[in-house]
Amino acid sequence: MYRTHTCGELRKTDIGKEVSLAGWVQTVRKFGSITFVDLRDRYGITQLLFGDDLSDLLAANPLGREFVIQVKGSVSERSNKNANIPTGDVEIKVGSLSILNKAITPPFTIQDDTDGGDDLRMKFRYLDLRRNEVKKNLELRYAVNRATRDYLHANHFMDIETPFLIKSTPEGARDFVVPSRMNAGQFYALPQSPQTFKQLLMVSGYDRYYQIVKCFRDEDLRADRQPEFTQIDCEMSFVEQEDILNMFEGLIKYIFKEVKDIEYNEKVERMSWEDAMWQYGNDKPDIRFDMKIANLKSAFKKDGELLAKGELINGANFPVFDNAETVVAIAVPGCSEYTRKQVDELTDWVKRPQIGMQGLVNIKCNADGSFKSSVDKFYDGEKLKAIAAFSNAKPGDLILILAGAEERTRKAISELRLELGQRLGFRKKNEFKLLWVLDFPLFEYAEEENRWVARHHPFTAPKPDHIPVMINNNPLIENAAEYLKHPYANIKANAYDMVLNGNEIGGGSIRIFQRDLQEKMFAALGMTKEESLYKFGFLLGAFEYGAPPHGGLAFGFDRLCAILGGSESIRDFIAFPKNNSGRDVMLDAPSNIDDKQLKELSIQLHIQ
Ligand code: AMO
Repeated sequence: MYRTHTCGELRKTDIGKEVSLAGWVQTVRKFGSITFVDLRDRYGITQLLFGDDLSDLLAANPLGREFVIQVKGSVSERSNKNANIPTGDVEIKVGSLSILNKAITPPFTIQDDTDGGDDLRMKFRYLDLRRNEVKKNLELRYAVNRATRDYLHANHFMDIETPFLIKSTPEGARDFVVPSRMNAGQFYALPQSPQTFKQLLMVSGYDRYYQIVKCFRDEDLRADRQPEFTQIDCEMSFVEQEDILNMFEGLIKYIFKEVKDIEYNEKVERMSWEDAMWQYGNDKPDIRFDMKIANLKSAFKKDGELLAKGELINGANFPVFDNAETVVAIAVPGCSEYTRKQVDELTDWVKRPQIGMQGLVNIKCNADGSFKSSVDKFYDGEKLKAIAAFSNAKPGDLILILAGAEERTRKAISELRLELGQRLGFRKKNEFKLLWVLDFPLFEYAEEENRWVARHHPFTAPKPDHIPVMINNNPLIENAAEYLKHPYANIKANAYDMVLNGNEIGGGSIRIFQRDLQEKMFAALGMTKEESLYKFGFLLGAFEYGAPPHGGLAFGFDRLCAILGGSESIRDFIAFPKNNSGRDVMLDAPSNIDDKQLKELSIQLHIQ
């Protein structure tokens, strides 16, 4: 037997026991003829004491960092206790030592604040995984996994595996493909999600399905995106949107309780997509703080009456506002005393190419009720007061205003809001705020192709009232510049996203379950009948054999773990992640394959 106890287990009550421990050498400290070794395993660290009698043995067999050893000895009380670790009251007086395996010096130190850079740690990920920080993340991931399974099992969900070698499923990204040896010239696609399979399982009667499953998407990578990632994928039959929201709100709250011991008792807030875009500038608002966006060109009077577009700000001969498609403002609380330098720095921030604005207008709302602004020349005190009132600014606030083309300006103000929220400490890592975003548009306009694409995916049902709009109108967009006037632009979907602290952690929809409506949807997306049959004949066919009403959603498992762990980067929560170019630097993949393999696959390479 290698060990009787782990390195995190022994306490004062074990003093006197004869034990065996095995693990990795964390540190070796020599004091004259005695030596202290910190022995580490997954469970913790225990101090070993090698006395005089073992000094010759150690001299002949010097221990180095990360050696794997086994010791036998007795548990004794430490004279110099360490209150920082649970085993800090005791040490092992070593009687015998076996070196199970030597180690060469690791390329970086295996401790919390390591000296290893990102690439090095990824190359030697198996060493990085020994670090406490990374281990804690994987433990959290496992806890989320277990809580998920517990909750879903208790609610009669069944885990059913679905295949990885499939035909393309459109979820908006490119597919990874796998050549077939037995079917020369043909390819499988790896699933972007098990979407169509889970719908087929509903047709088969498995009314509550789930899977914690890998999904593969060949898309540009960011901190919150990996080419292969994991979803908590769920589907239910005989449900309406409300049933789904309640079930999965329950799941997230259960995870909060089990994993973080957080009682999230309040009902998860809900917001329409339109409000999210209008008030926060994006479809995944961080509602841990307010600072809502005011649209100065589309202002309402106090009683809710809409002013003529631009009435609040136009006509002051300030061309930047007069000529802009959109003018938006945020009131930054308590920042009216920002210095010129601070405001200039913010101006530079919005001028960076990533944000791409021309400039930043500010109005300081002084504590005495007066105003000082960078546009004093154009707007008198009364006008500034009206703008401040409309922007919900209080004395002491700093109003920041951006003007320009609709989409870019909306994006920029949203980024500026988040940046200031961050700087002012409003985005606390240990505060969790959930939000359902509802009523997404069913379609999005794809400019390059001049056609409609599904905003979520093509299996999402329109809101029942909007079905006639879809059926009775031709999808063709005659005037691309005026696509917003097409009736399809206003069709809303029974689709929902769950947002946690400004991150989309999940999304789903109520599905189409009738063949004719699904066919109509494919046609709306510009597919010919032949194309839709070629790609989705199996699903259309299945809908003719008694498909129940159904819907579901999928959570981004890695993202959820990262946010619960206080990080924005999902890589830290994946045992063996890829880097931002989609490479596994440890395996050095992707890589070439040899000619023999290519030949077996009947593939000839022609790299362009
Ligand atoms: P969707 O495409 O919205 O929906 O994906 C669901 C959730 O998965 C996470 N996610 C990702 N996480 C890491 N890396 C990625 N590349 C990545 N892409 C997505 C997000 C997202 O909210 N089949 C539908 C679900 C359904 O309709 O039931 C789907 O896959 O957190």
